[in-house]
Amino acid sequence: MKPRLAILISGRGSNMAALLKAAQAENWEAEVSLVLSNKPLAGGLKTAAEHGIKTAVLDHRAFRGRRGDFDAQLAEVLQDQKIDLVILAGFMRILGPNFTRPFSGRILNIHPSLLPLYPGLDTHQRAIDAGDSVAGCTVHLVDETLDGGKPLAQAKVPILPGDDAEALAARVLVEEHQLYPRVVREFIDSRFKIGMDPAASSGSVVEVEK
Ligand code: GRF
Repeated sequence: MKPRLAILISGRGSNMAALLKAAQAENWEAEVSLVLSNKPLAGGLKTAAEHGIKTAVLDHRAFRGRRGDFDAQLAEVLQDQKIDLVILAGFMRILGPNFTRPFSGRILNIHPSLLPLYPGLDTHQRAIDAGDSVAGCTVHLVDETLDGGKPLAQAKVPILPGDDAEALAARVLVEEHQLYPRVVREFIDSRFKIGMDPAASSGSVVEVEK
C-alpha cells in the first residue's frame, strides 16, 4: 500500500499546492489522503478540494487553554485516517508531545529561514534587521521544540539591497515551492520502503544555493 500523507495548513496553502502538483506530475509512490486546517477559512482548503483531496478542519479555538487536548485530537484524526507521514505547510500551531510522540520521525515542516537562525515568526524582517546577506528556507523534522527538529535540506537566496520583508518573503517562497516537494519525495522514497521504520534512518542536510 502506498504511504498515506496528510498536509496540515492554516492559510493560503501555496506550499500545499506545490506538493499536490508535484505528487501528481511525478506520480509519487504516496497518496495525499487528507488536507487539514486549524482555521475554517483557510484558502488552501478550497484548493485541496479542487484537487479532489479530502479536507478536514480542527478548529484550535475550540480548545482554548487546552493545547494538549488539541494535539491529542489531531493525532486521533490522523490515526483514524491511517496517515503515515504528516507534512506541515504553513501550519501555524506549535505541536506538543501528544502529537509529536505518536508521529515521531514522521512529521516534516518547511520554515522560511536558514535554521537554526530565526525560529518562530517574522523571519524575513529579522534577517534584514540583522544585516544578513543570505536568507532561505529549511525543511526539517518536527519535534516538540519550536522549529528545532533535525534539518533535512536548505535553499538559500541572496538578500538584496533595498529588500523589505515582503520582497524577501516572495523570493524565498519561490524556493520553498521547489525544495519542499523535492525533499518530501526523497523522504518518501528513502524511508517508506517496505519494512523500514521511517523514524530510524538518518539523513544529512542538503544545501541548495541560489
Ligand atoms: C511559508 O512561508 C512557510 O515556510 C511558512 O508559512 C508560509 C506558508 O505559506 N511556514 P503557504 O500557506 O504555504 O502559502
